[in-house]
Formats: sequence, C-alpha cells, structure tokens
Amino acid sequence: MTEITKDTLFQTAVDVLHLNDRGTYTVPTSGLYPFQWNWDSCLVALGQRHVDEARAWKELETLFAHQWDDGMVPHIVFHEMDDGYFPGPDVWKTGRSTPTTGITQPAVAGFAVNRLYEHAKDKTLAIEKAQALLHGIDRWHSWFYHYRDPKNTGLVALIHPWEAGRDNSVDWDDPFDSVPTDGIGAYQRRDTQHASAEHRPTSEQYDRYLWLVQRFRSLGWDNQQLHDASPFQVVDPGFNALLIRSCADISALAETLGEQEIAARNKAFANKALNALDGLWSDRLNQYVCFDRVKGSTIESPSVGGLIPVVAPIPKERADAIAARINEWGERCQYLVPSHDPADASFDSKRYWRGPSWLIVNYLIADGLRNAGIHDVAANIEKQSLKLIQKSGFAEYYDPISGEPCGGKTFTWTAAMVLEFLRTSDDA
Ligand code: GLC
Repeated sequence: MTEITKDTLFQTAVDVLHLNDRGTYTVPTSGLYPFQWNWDSCLVALGQRHVDEARAWKELETLFAHQWDDGMVPHIVFHEMDDGYFPGPDVWKTGRSTPTTGITQPAVAGFAVNRLYEHAKDKTLAIEKAQALLHGIDRWHSWFYHYRDPKNTGLVALIHPWEAGRDNSVDWDDPFDSVPTDGIGAYQRRDTQHASAEHRPTSEQYDRYLWLVQRFRSLGWDNQQLHDASPFQVVDPGFNALLIRSCADISALAETLGEQEIAARNKAFANKALNALDGLWSDRLNQYVCFDRVKGSTIESPSVGGLIPVVAPIPKERADAIAARINEWGERCQYLVPSHDPADASFDSKRYWRGPSWLIVNYLIADGLRNAGIHDVAANIEKQSLKLIQKSGFAEYYDPISGEPCGGKTFTWTAAMVLEFLRTSDDA
C-alpha cells in the first residue's frame, strides 16, 4: 500500500469527526453506537481542539449537562431514540428527562479539560469553560470516592464491566462467577447486526451484563445501595489510575484558576489513591492486577488494565517495568499495545478487549510513558498506531498480530487520537 501523506491522514481524520458530529455531541460511530458515550466524548474533544476549540468545549459541556444530582456522570446519554442499540433507555429506566444509563465510565474528563486548557489558543474562552467544568468534574470525583469506596480504602470499585470501558476483558471472567443469569427474560442483541459476532462479547457475557442492569434497576438506581448490593465489585488498576490522573490534573488546573478548595480535595484523593494502587502490583506478573472485592482476592489476569496505570504518577521503577512488559508483548505482536498479554492462554487477537489493540489505550499509555521519561517506547507505540491507520483505516480496534480492522468502522475516537498523534509526537 502506498504511504498516505500526513496531510491526507489529518484531513481524513477530520472527515470522520464531521461524519459522526451531531452538533453538540459526537457519536462513536453511527449504527453500532448511535448516542453519546462518556469517555469517548472526553477523548474526542482532544481531537476536535485541533480543528475548532469551541466545538471541543461544547462536547464536554453537553456531557456534563447530563450529570446526575448525586454527581455521577453517566456512561451513555441517549439524546435521540435509535432502535439500533441494545440495551436502550427502556431497559435502563433511570427516569432522567433525557434518558441516560445508570452506570459510569473511566474518568478522563479532568485529564481532557486540563489538556484543552493548557494548549488552548483562545485563553479567554478556555478560562470560562474550564472554570465551569471544573466544578462538575470535582463533584464527579467526589461521587466516586464516596459511593464506590464505602470503606475508604483509597480505591474505587466498578459494579459493571461496562464501567471499565473494557467490556469483555479476561479480567472479568472470574468475578463473573458471582453474577447469575437467571430471570433475565428473552432479549435481542443489536451489536452483532453491526459487527462480526466473532469480534464481540459472547452471549453468556451479555446475559450477565443484563442481569446486573436489571438488579440495579430494581434498586431504583440508588447509588447509596448499588455498590454493596452488586455481586460484581472489581477494583481495576487502569480505571483507578485514570481517575488519579484526572484528580491530579484538575488539582493543578484548580490551583491556576484560584479554586483552592477543589485543588486541595483532588490532590488528597490522588495521593491517597496512589499509595493504595501500589497494593495492586503483582511481582509475579510484573504489572498491576485487578482486585475482586466480593471474593477478597486479586485477579491474576495479565491485561492492559495493569499497564494503563503508567498514565498516573506511579513510581519510576513501576513505569520502567511496564515499559519492559510492553516490549515483551511487542515480541509477539507487530502492532502494540494488545489489550491482553499475547503469551496468555486467554488471549484472542480479534475479540474486542481480549487481545485487540485500541488507539485510545495507546495514546494514554504513550502519554504516561513520556511523562515518565520513557520516550523510545512511547514513540514506538505512536509510530505503530499510525501504521495501523495507514494499513487498515479508522477502525474501532485492530488485530495486534495481523493489523486487520475489527468492530465498527469510521470510528470517532480513533480519528481523534490520530489528530493527537499527528500534532504532538516527535517522529510520527
Ligand atoms: C464499547 C467500548 C467502550 C466504548 C464504547 C463506545 O462499549 O468497550 O469502551 O466507550 O464501545 O465506543
């Protein structure tokens, strides 16, 4: 295949953003995901800023306009009805005027707002928008530590795999033993009509996803009850690290904007969580691992969730070990960073979060590595990410061995990450 020029790549990425732009929010891709997703939007705003800063701020404002009264920012906002997705608002029944789901997603808004602010060309606009968003993000972070860490351990638990953003990771296989599947009734999946069933979660996993939704619905989506009532309570190191990074970032931003209380609160969250995170390090696997709060034991699953913590200010020796892990994985895969250790028996190169590489993960890991001073591994990840695009277009995710495109096509956050890589990496 002939090399596509950077300018063409940039323009094609911009076209993908436009294609999926619904005016005040962006859908991940039409068909498969026709609504606004939480962490997609935050990361998409980072791409939009290279084209139109006001539009990038708008993406975040729209998301936060649907924040719940208790502080939660939902994982999906159903702005307009669309039958192409299941489970839709009639299944969630959260009772919101604009329907939303009742669970959340990785907290990357703080990270995104800080980045938008730092690099903003229009500083007046940035101060106004960041100041307003800061309060919502602070409420969301407080929500996490209040409702998802009731025993005050410093780390938050997920109560549904969809909250992790890594829906069918191998990490959830063991904790799923505690989630029943009885009484969920008949239902029709829609995802497999838009993407190959071989690339998607299994129907057994789907049953459990739905059982959890129905259980939470039966409790009226009362966050006071959900954590303890859930048979799925998993502390994910990657998820916690993204929250830590967002806390640290908005602490710094709040300081700049003269919001001392927000700055102090978020700094305290980040420091406490960073200490606790170290307890999830596995010397055997040489990476972080999840902890199952229901069973009271760690989950010895070598997934990318255990490498994402490099995005937070973890100790240098941990960051070095993560870089070594990535190099090790790279010996078996041409296209970094697979979502699961390719040497592990559960690795599946095409099935969603059980092996494939995702550009947003690459971006977050590369950013963390650069902060830790590990530029060579970061540059390698960035280079391979762009090679994937050259080879296979703007897919949802990619087979890390063959580079084949998987899942949905013309994917928004993939395009946004390409804009980021093209504009920020040294040697892309
Ligand atoms: C899938 C992904 C999740 C993402 C969503 C929309 O559910 O696992 O991380 O937010 O699709 O792109």
